[in-house]
Amino acid sequence: MAETNRKIIINNKTVFQSEPFQPQARYFTGFFGRETELAQLTAAWMAGNSSLPMCPLFIGEPGTGKNRLIYEISRRTGRQLYIFQGHEDVTAEDLACTVRFSDNNNSTMDYMLSPLVSAMYNGGICFIDEIGKIRPRALALLVSVLDERTYIDSTLLGERIHAHPGFRFVAATNTTDLNLLPEFILSRLRPRITLGYQPKEEIDSIIRDQCKEIRNEVDILIDLFWALWVEHGGKPGGITPRDAIYLFAWASKLSSFHQTGGIESLLMASHEKPYDLDLQHTYTGIKPEHLKLAFEILFSDNFLIKN
Ligand SMILES: Nc1ncnc2c1ncn2[C@@H]1O[C@H](COP(=O)(O)OP(=O)(O)OP(=O)(O)O)[C@@H](O)[C@H]1O
Ligand SMILES: [Mg+2]
Repeated sequence: MAETNRKIIINNKTVFQSEPFQPQARYFTGFFGRETELAQLTAAWMAGNSSLPMCPLFIGEPGTGKNRLIYEISRRTGRQLYIFQGHEDVTAEDLACTVRFSDNNNSTMDYMLSPLVSAMYNGGICFIDEIGKIRPRALALLVSVLDERTYIDSTLLGERIHAHPGFRFVAATNTTDLNLLPEFILSRLRPRITLGYQPKEEIDSIIRDQCKEIRNEVDILIDLFWALWVEHGGKPGGITPRDAIYLFAWASKLSSFHQTGGIESLLMASHEKPYDLDLQHTYTGIKPEHLKLAFEILFSDNFLIKN
């Protein structure tokens, strides 16, 4: 989004909005399963003249697909997605509006609307990721957004911003941070939608989608992967999409490394695009020994014990 498009005027004050997130199609290809969770989110967001949308909370282990589900709903609805990344140093005012030094000679500072307020202003989706990492005193400002008031007060801007009717809110937290959320926020984040492990068939589809170039061999590799997984104490299907994707990506890189001359590839380090698989070599496939090696390196015994 160009800087000029981000500029708006609120009560004679020039303000810059946050940029919406547009997932790059080449990194986010097929989306599999999660229909129940998508249905729950959609139902929660139904709203009308006398009925407000609800503000759901996704809960799940790292890598289960909380972000991905939200990118998918943004894609399917065509609504702009504004992401606010939660962390320990977020202040209440960060949730609303901040300032930066201005490039404009006529002003010294620019007001910057947070992703939350940009979504409220435009009627987009606001996703607060890792909300459990934000300290309770910062979260207090969110209360009026989540209840019937549907506004936020920014002390810095000196303004109250009301949510556009198209505004929708969702947050996510890892399971371990759930108990850090204060009750006054938890009680407003409803429904709570838990993302568990996906069935084996859906994980298989995610792997197949990642490995389109080796369509002919991939089923044998998937069988090998599950055999190794179970052999090491994992439950069938008890893996996150992220771990499955990393495993096959790592195996493919190990394969490329060997097939492009092994350590000789170091010579490519000085290229403008180092180690570029697209430069001279097409996708080199995965051999069973690369999958086994990747499996051993990625999944230590500790990892498997907890599954
Ligand atoms: N249903 C799905 N179909 C296809 N790919 C998926 C699906 N769910 C997740 N993925 C992929 O798995 C990876 C991890 O997903 P994501 O980052 O959304 O997890 P997360 O729950 O947000 O993790 P964290 O808690 O660490 O932030 C991403 O590469 C994502 O594209
Ligand atoms: Mg995430």
